[in-house]
Amino acid sequence: MFSLAVLISGNGSNLQVIIDKCAAGEIRAKVCCVISNEQDAYGLERARIAGIPIHVLSHRDYSSRTQYDLELAALLETCDADLIVLAGFMRILGEGFIDRFPNRIINLHPSLLPKYKGLDTHARVLKAGEDTHGASVHLVTPDLDSGPVIAQASIAVTDVDSVETLQERVHGLEHEILPRAVGWFADHRIKIEGDRVFLDDMPINRLKSK
Ligand code: GRF
Repeated sequence: MFSLAVLISGNGSNLQVIIDKCAAGEIRAKVCCVISNEQDAYGLERARIAGIPIHVLSHRDYSSRTQYDLELAALLETCDADLIVLAGFMRILGEGFIDRFPNRIINLHPSLLPKYKGLDTHARVLKAGEDTHGASVHLVTPDLDSGPVIAQASIAVTDVDSVETLQERVHGLEHEILPRAVGWFADHRIKIEGDRVFLDDMPINRLKSK
């Protein structure tokens, strides 16, 4: 069966949605391991409850980013996952790491990429007076938050929105688009050619409104 390694740093609500959808057969895949760089990430408890092997690899135990990446890559190779899902994993991975898993890493990002790469997206969206905001799932490439987009969803930003309300509303979008994208991979519906992504042989940028 198609297997997933899910990397987290915190609460793991997106991980939970994936676990639940795999259990319900809505995603035809299984989570083979959950890895966190934070020992107290609640997502680890979620994985434990679901009987999924967990690993903690703290970046604080490594003197360099390269050393950390090497160790993480070695651990992932033992998991032998078909797809590596960064679901709130708050570490930047280096090019050497990414090159070891070509077209097999996806990331969840709380903005409508290519807008608002990086951190503090909700505050920046409010400050800029944007009228729409959202979430993206994209393929991980060496440039931060810049790989081809696989799935996106948006919301209207209103006058009463705050960082907290945007966070909550965008989280709701993430819980829809991440499992959807993972399901596409699990069903072998995604093809990648260079920096172009196809769903059922259709370029994905033409499907954004769906
Ligand atoms: C998400 O908002 C994601 O976009 C951000 O971290 C959060 C993870 O949420 N990078 P959770 O841990 O899945 O609840």
